[in-house]
Amino acid sequence: MRIIRAKDYEEMSRRAADIIAAQVLLKPDCVLGLATGSSPVGTYQELVRRNAAGDLDFSRVKSVNLDEYVGLDPSHDQSYAYFMRHNLFDHINIDPKNTNVPSGIAPDPEAECSRYDALIAAYGGIDLQLLGLGPNGHIGFNEPADVFPTGTHQVTLTDSTIQANKRFFARVEDVPRYARTMGIRDIMQARRVLMVVSGEGKAETVRAAFTGPVTPRVPASILQLHPDFTLVADEAALRYI
Ligand code: F6R
Repeated sequence: MRIIRAKDYEEMSRRAADIIAAQVLLKPDCVLGLATGSSPVGTYQELVRRNAAGDLDFSRVKSVNLDEYVGLDPSHDQSYAYFMRHNLFDHINIDPKNTNVPSGIAPDPEAECSRYDALIAAYGGIDLQLLGLGPNGHIGFNEPADVFPTGTHQVTLTDSTIQANKRFFARVEDVPRYARTMGIRDIMQARRVLMVVSGEGKAETVRAAFTGPVTPRVPASILQLHPDFTLVADEAALRYI
């Protein structure tokens, strides 16, 4: 694994955007795996800026997002589909038909999860997967567990994730209890993986994930075994590394 040490969130975002931009320049019809949350927002702003400046062309890029809450319609302002339109897709020249987020409202969870894995396979796999790091070590919504989950599946969110995400909802009761997420196999099969992490609050999780044992109790720890994994983090998050 490669670690890029950034001074702060802004530098982290620029460095991550450099890596994504290089991927798009190298392969203009690449498949990007994308994440939501506060960590990649600055990276997306940087990509929007470069696209507007004419330095980066997304017209042939395809995207697959990691996850979505169960029960939220894509028009709901806390759905991940909405987040992606609001933070990235509406501001770059990507074809909306080439953007994908698992459906949180498709009635049959198993059918939806299989459809999503089949879509990733039909795209030829993911060229570069962008990730954030959950405070409990989750990636996507792969929560700490006894085994690493494989493909896209429906999960029950842990209390710690519900607490971490309640900041986006009016009341904690409004945070959905279930989500659909790519599995660890989907993430590990991406040809390159890029994680952005910022802030002292994540420092202990970064230490556990990347200097501790590989264990499904800390799902991100599996990335130690990925052949092309880059962690871009600020100094605060890398405090124990
Ligand atoms: C988001 C996702 C999550 C987040 C993680 C960190 O699509 O899959 O794993 O990356 O919860 O969230 P932030 O960046 O808000 O701290």
